[in-house]
Amino acid sequence: MHSSAIYPSLADRPVFITGGGSGIGASLVTAFARQNAIVHFIDIDDTASRALVDRLTAESSAHRVSYSHCDIRDITALQGCIREFEAAHGPIRVLINNAANDDRHDWRDVSPDDWDERMAINLRPQFFAIQAAAPGMASAGGGSIINFGSISWKVGLGNMPGYTTAKAAVHGLTRSMARDLGGDHIRVNTVIPGAVLTQRQLEKWITPEDKTRLAEIQCLKQHLAPADVAPTVLFLAADDSAMCTAHEYFVDAGWG
Ligand SMILES: NC(=O)c1ccc[n+]([C@@H]2O[C@H](COP(=O)([O-])OP(=O)(O)OC[C@H]3O[C@@H](n4cnc5c(N)ncnc54)[C@H](O)[C@@H]3O)[C@@H](O)[C@H]2O)c1
Repeated sequence: MHSSAIYPSLADRPVFITGGGSGIGASLVTAFARQNAIVHFIDIDDTASRALVDRLTAESSAHRVSYSHCDIRDITALQGCIREFEAAHGPIRVLINNAANDDRHDWRDVSPDDWDERMAINLRPQFFAIQAAAPGMASAGGGSIINFGSISWKVGLGNMPGYTTAKAAVHGLTRSMARDLGGDHIRVNTVIPGAVLTQRQLEKWITPEDKTRLAEIQCLKQHLAPADVAPTVLFLAADDSAMCTAHEYFVDAGWG
């Protein structure tokens, strides 16, 4: 499914996306480029990211999508990328905290360093990206921040407590920052994907049996694709959702 909606408020709007090189992030980069937004994304996968930029450049949207290599665990680099993008294009109006890592881990094997590492990828960058982008958004009259949560903790999945704990905390981050930033007309929401069959999910975790089980437990029986998430994110980014903040929006085919 692809968004057929065009949001005039997104045209020419600076949009910053973490983890845009593949999976759901790549479909977000594509969807915002097709809205003629000014899109910059960061990632650590240079090959996939450059290929995406090339594909979108060939599609010729109004603005060339740009990419920089940045590991979101490095907060100085992350905030530096945000400042560089703002220096070139003005304040970020849409920030999408998408990058994450859901590698599985047995709770018995987790060391304190492993735990910190899970937070450093799945939670900490979301806050520090907001910290860097919010002042510019406020000066521009407002903006929209979309944090990515996960269905995993809602449905009580095991074998990844570092990931599920971080993703549960994203809800607290969203609500608390929505309160702090609402006075500056900055909205903060969480998007919660269900089981989205990205290439990585298919390669690493999802078995044919899982696919059958998902179809049984979801209300809707089709499997979710990355492009199914983008329309909800576009809506939350656009002025059409001007009075929506501090909440969670599920795109899970009715699993949670
Ligand atoms: N796919 C799903 O079923 C699913 C389910 C629930 C939640 N989510 C959430 O949706 C978001 C996107 O998920 P996805 O499945 O597309 O993920 P993915 O793993 O397919 O893609 C994540 C992207 O982030 C990049 N990335 C990973 N570590 C990084 C780092 N340290 N610095 C910078 N970039 C990094 C990867 O290279 C990749 O391009 C995540 O927040 C994830 O937790 C996904």
